[in-house]
Amino acid sequence: MTRIFSGVKPTGHLTLGNYLGAIRGWAEVDQHRSDSVFCVVDLHALTVDHDPARVRRLSRQAATLLLASGIDPDRSVLFVQSHVDEHARLSYLLECVASDGEMRRMIQYKEKAPVEQARGGSVRLSLLTYPVLMAADILAYGADEVPVGDDQTQHVELTRDLAARFNQRYGQTFTLPRATRPEVAARVMDLQDPTSKMGKSHESGAGIVYLLDEPDVVRKKIMRAVTDSGSEVVYDRGTRPGVSNLLEILAACEGGNPEGLSGVYESYGALKRDTADAVVELLRPVRERHRELVRDSAYVEGVLRTGAERAREMSRPTVDAAYRAIGLLPPAPAPADVVPVNMAR
Ligand code: TRP
Repeated sequence: MTRIFSGVKPTGHLTLGNYLGAIRGWAEVDQHRSDSVFCVVDLHALTVDHDPARVRRLSRQAATLLLASGIDPDRSVLFVQSHVDEHARLSYLLECVASDGEMRRMIQYKEKAPVEQARGGSVRLSLLTYPVLMAADILAYGADEVPVGDDQTQHVELTRDLAARFNQRYGQTFTLPRATRPEVAARVMDLQDPTSKMGKSHESGAGIVYLLDEPDVVRKKIMRAVTDSGSEVVYDRGTRPGVSNLLEILAACEGGNPEGLSGVYESYGALKRDTADAVVELLRPVRERHRELVRDSAYVEGVLRTGAERAREMSRPTVDAAYRAIGLLPPAPAPADVVPVNMAR
């Protein structure tokens, strides 16, 4: 069976964009047709200036929201990255296969490093090496497919390159993964700036619907979404980014396609009202389930404990094989239990 691996980074509250662009597809489609591994990639949240308490809180919240969204721990492996040593263990080996030039060419690094520099003056080394850790996440599990957004395709390609290079130098060890677009995925853009992806760069929140926003907040944000000049409600990303985004969201909620809604609405107001209703209804069960799960923290912790155990079992053999292949001396097996003296005679 195809193995898929994907992750969410606990750097901010999860958004409608995360949900419609990825998580819903993982829950509704991917976990039913593949052997799925989903990870809260908390180590990745440390690559930029961070608040420890916030990372901890967001990690627990992301795991809880994945469960609330329908990731089923009996079908999928769900865990927190830092609970499984194999990721960091493998990342170092892959650093010995990657080159610094290759890292500096990563688009996300080129975009983020200057921002960090402007903010605090220094860029964490982990921001540069982060794609290698991501490669380790994927390769440790022998994943065939990685359902991610477009902004991550370059990282998955790097993962493939590193895997191929390692295999070629040190012998067949890793499966070569490929990036897939999640099967049911919408590209949700910021409601205030519909040319940039929701949740990417806008910290203000006015254009971002969070999964845990109260219904009246969701409604307000959608009613205040920027629309375009002109008044026809047609789907055209190039000339009508604002309206097209609302049509995309509405279609995704209803399971249709946005082209099909082109021309259906008489006014922006009517479109916004229907979109707001649809989003509120879409998120209602997720919020309710989240609320129940928050009350049952022992359950969530149990899921994550079991998930980490399974993840360790899955990844350990591959990472051990990579350690052997690259030339590291295997530790001697622990001596058998000391035989009691009287029995030794
Ligand atoms: N880099 C991804 C992001 O920013 C998160 C991530 C880390 C990931 N490791 C991964 C995604 C492995 C898929 C597979 O969204």
